[in-house]
Amino acid sequence: MEVAGINNQQEKTENSVSVENAASTSAGITKSLAPEPEFYGKAQKYWSEVPATVNGMLGGLGYISAIDIQGSNTFLREIRVPGNKLALDCGAGIGRVTKNLLLPRFSRVDIVEQDPAFAEKAREYCSSEGTGGSGELDEIFNVGLQKFAPTKQYDLIWSQWVLGHLTDHDLVSFFRRLRQGLAPGAYFCMKENVSSSRKTVEDKQDSSVTRPLDQYERFLKEAGFRIVRKVKQQSFPKGLFPVYMIACKPVSRD
Ligand SMILES: C[S@@+](CC[C@H](N)C(=O)[O-])C[C@H]1O[C@@H](n2cnc3c(N)ncnc32)[C@H](O)[C@@H]1O
Repeated sequence: MEVAGINNQQEKTENSVSVENAASTSAGITKSLAPEPEFYGKAQKYWSEVPATVNGMLGGLGYISAIDIQGSNTFLREIRVPGNKLALDCGAGIGRVTKNLLLPRFSRVDIVEQDPAFAEKAREYCSSEGTGGSGELDEIFNVGLQKFAPTKQYDLIWSQWVLGHLTDHDLVSFFRRLRQGLAPGAYFCMKENVSSSRKTVEDKQDSSVTRPLDQYERFLKEAGFRIVRKVKQQSFPKGLFPVYMIACKPVSRD
């Protein structure tokens, strides 16, 4: 899933999606352009050709990383995450979020990343200077989120610019599995592009979809989460998809 539409951000702005390339579906079921194995396989291939750099992670818009992290920092301050021991970064890429947002706050951070080269790069990138914190990158799960199930209790699970790579069915199942990975009082936070219309916008190039905000909200509720806070990222360049941060907790706990 491209950043700020993130992947190919500049091309993945709403205005630039051409009619031929964009298959929009009305709010409800997102039909992927390709059958499931192909949907995931094409995304895997797309990312295997992207450089393992911040610029690569952000579709050529590396300069928005600082603004993005600043917005996420403010968001985390506002929700007041209770624990500070262990966090999980989902669809972490080379660990841009881990290094700049999570390691300054948590003693240990695990990551889930499907691309082996990004996962390998994350070790080096996250141990290089400039984290501003003493946390350490711990376990790396080199697997797609559609197959991942947490086996630990995290104080925070963060997911950014990746959920558009999951089918609707796999997304709801993933949300459900995440609930088991949250320590008492912990949050699951997602930060994603959303479409401004009530339609889902498909991107054939990276094999992802951009969903409307209310679809994410519905899926979270369906999976047993309640939304605690929802904030739109400010100060991104014009022409990109709106980006929202949503913090939620399991319905049945605290
Ligand atoms: C736009 S990058 C975002 C990386 C990171 N979250 C960030 O904000 O810097 C999308 C990442 O999602 C990963 N990805 C794509 N499909 C995935 C899947 N099914 N499961 C896990 N990660 C996936 C890609 O390999 C890539 O590293």
